Amino acid sequence: MNILVTGGAGYIGSHTLIELIASGHSVVVVDNLCNSSKIAINRVEKITGTSIPFYETDIRDKEALNIILDKHQINCCIHFAGLKAVGESVSHPHEYYDNNITGTLTLIGALREHGIKNIIFSSSATVYGEPQVIPVTEDCPKGICTNPYGWTKWMIEQMLIDLHTADPTYNVVLLRYFNPIGAHESGLIGENPNGIPNNLMPYITQVAVGKRDKLHIFGNDYDTPDGTGVRDYIHVVDLAKGHVKALNAIQSNCGVEVYNLGTGKGYSVLDIVKAFERVNDVKIPYVIDDRRPGDIATCYSDPSKAWTALGWKAEYGIEEMCRDSWNWQRQNPDGYG
Ligand code: NAD
Ligand code: UFG
Repeated sequence: MNILVTGGAGYIGSHTLIELIASGHSVVVVDNLCNSSKIAINRVEKITGTSIPFYETDIRDKEALNIILDKHQINCCIHFAGLKAVGESVSHPHEYYDNNITGTLTLIGALREHGIKNIIFSSSATVYGEPQVIPVTEDCPKGICTNPYGWTKWMIEQMLIDLHTADPTYNVVLLRYFNPIGAHESGLIGENPNGIPNNLMPYITQVAVGKRDKLHIFGNDYDTPDGTGVRDYIHVVDLAKGHVKALNAIQSNCGVEVYNLGTGKGYSVLDIVKAFERVNDVKIPYVIDDRRPGDIATCYSDPSKAWTALGWKAEYGIEEMCRDSWNWQRQNPDGYG
């Protein structure tokens, strides 16, 4: 298939490009580079030996999207583009709703005008809010989100479901990611956060590389085995492969489908710190701080639907996730510079 990848220069998008190309698909990338670098695309070209059509374009620019869609015969859109920092979304809700919601509406408008009705969307476990059951299945009701970022995912899912209700020839796959970490084994691409990392693994790798003194662990009084938060960490390469499997579903006219992409295993913050230290033979000093507002104690997936329906399951374990996160950071202490 010929796939439009929005946000393809970003962390998950760049890894997905590699898997798409390895599976024989063609890609066209649209990214405004607001949270990424063109260097990521150059490195994917190096890894795959393929030249990638790239447009530095905002998905809110319908005219520009139309020109791209006139030029390329696209069969499906994988939609990664969006802002994703939870805390920033609380302080800048307008920017988040405008970028994520207006951006998606503009994108699907342009796609519709070009007869493109196959869409795979990057959703998040955040739509479950405080999950009613653990492990979280796709049947678990969507919950109350604690921040505007989460609501944008929640609303975009609903928008895409409504499109299919109105026109059943749409095929929509909603992929709810759990916690992606790790990097491509080459160490050429990886997660490259701006400023102080919000997420656990990039913070740990920046401590390991000497950019930060110590990790701040947000609370050790949760109702979990060691008191620290438990999450479902998934290797970004496994996550990327999930998109290739989702394309198979699209090709067989799946209608609307929702899949959790996780490993089904929960690890605490201290589990991750210890695994990182053991695998990479580096010390991660830490202090225990107060809980972070909005955090929940435990969240991990039941990923069995993706296995049954798509034949996808995560292959990498926590050791490979820690190894590859460090391999990327060590080789690129300043990310893409
Ligand atoms: P990322 O920031 O690395 O990638 C997102 C990309 O979208 C960036 O390259 C950015 O420049 C681009 N972008 C943002 N707004 C745009 C716009 N208006 N027009 C064009 N390009 C735009 O983030 P990521 O971690 O790769 O996440 C990809 C998707 O997966 C996002 O939608 C994110 O919300 C979702 N997601 C991420 C996580 C996670 O923990 N990383 C978890 C669940 C869901
Ligand atoms: N944590 C720390 N210190 C840090 C960062 C995180 O102790 O510096 C802890 C958190 O309290 C939590 C765990 O590490 O217990 C994981 O936190 P992350 O910020 O890495 O991930 P979250 O589970 O909070 O959220 C992530 C994404 C969301 C997404 C969600 C579910 O940031 O966008 O996973 O997919 F919605």
